[in-house]
Amino acid sequence: SVRKDSPLYALLEVADGYYRQQLRHHAQRERAVDYLKGRGLSGQIAKRFGIGFAPPGWDNLMTHLVREKHEVKQLIDAGLVIENEDNGRRYDRLRDRITFPIRDSRGRVVGFGGRVLGDDKPKYLNSPETPVFHKGRELYGLFEARQANRQLDQILVVEGYMDVIALAQQGITHAVATLGTATTEEHLKRLFRVVSLVVFCFDGDNAGRKAAWRALENALPVMTDGRQVRFMFLPDGEDPDSLVRSEGADAFRARLEQQALPLSDYLLRHLGEEVNSDSLEGKAHLASLALPLIEQIPGKLLKRLLRQELERRTGMDLDSLPPPPAPRADDE
Ligand code: GTP
Ligand code: MN
Ligand code: MN
Ligand code: MN
Ligand code: MN
Repeated sequence: SVRKDSPLYALLEVADGYYRQQLRHHAQRERAVDYLKGRGLSGQIAKRFGIGFAPPGWDNLMTHLVREKHEVKQLIDAGLVIENEDNGRRYDRLRDRITFPIRDSRGRVVGFGGRVLGDDKPKYLNSPETPVFHKGRELYGLFEARQANRQLDQILVVEGYMDVIALAQQGITHAVATLGTATTEEHLKRLFRVVSLVVFCFDGDNAGRKAAWRALENALPVMTDGRQVRFMFLPDGEDPDSLVRSEGADAFRARLEQQALPLSDYLLRHLGEEVNSDSLEGKAHLASLALPLIEQIPGKLLKRLLRQELERRTGMDLDSLPPPPAPRADDE
């Protein structure tokens, strides 16, 4: 297939070597190293994740790779170089940024994330979709998590590169991150091929809470019996990086064990917060929101238990409801 044989893999690996080399030897490496130290990262963990440095300047990487006989066209295809459509000017995508190689399940570099060293915007840049990099499929840190654990029993899904790495720095090595996209059904299928328990732990802010509900919606269609999804909600203003650094790994692990809500609890709690179900109208509203979600669950046992719980909360016998009308062709 295109993926397997793509020459882009070799190119991305050379780029990866270049960025790591720059972190060790560039004249401005001190700034990058100080930044990483300031975020509590050791040289050892930086090495494990292949963290590098894209130096300041428009075309350092491009010049290096062209000197090594790589074609600019391929640099563009790999997402490493941007070509301005109006004037044809070409320049490195990542400049003056900390770099994070993104690996696929076999450990091949398929793209990069890059973070500014200060407060400039945009804070992060990611590789675009390329023939070898699909954001809806890849999970940052999954390869590294599998390397660090002979047997994984659960995976923690967080928002960002630095959450994955800060957790690993504290010895919590089973975290992965989606790459600036929502968690897709494909991400979940991929995770459930590895573990039977997936715990979402997004930032304690509105974006994080929204992402959690989106993750629930995408998890429903893959919830066969035996699979478990939980949600851990963080205090306002915290993300896994800030929290594990302030409270330590043991407290973070205890939180995971004690506070992660099973998907079913989160579903009912969230809808319960949206709807005042004191009245019959409220109970009908609750059922109208919950039923289409519950019906998506393929696991017969979990679906049955959720329906029973909804019956308890609404006082209604759901099995006696007429089946929902079949969708009409013109609704599609
Ligand atoms: P730090 O400030 O390094 O701790 O970043 P963070 O991971 O806490 O960032 P934040 O919570 O703001 O965002 C979560 C994730 O969304 C990041 O890790 C990135 O993957 C992505 N993200 C954040 N800001 C940007 C941005 O400006 N552009 C893009 N493309 N992605 C971003
Ligand atoms: Mn493809
Ligand atoms: Mn955030
Ligand atoms: Mn964050
Ligand atoms: Mn953060």
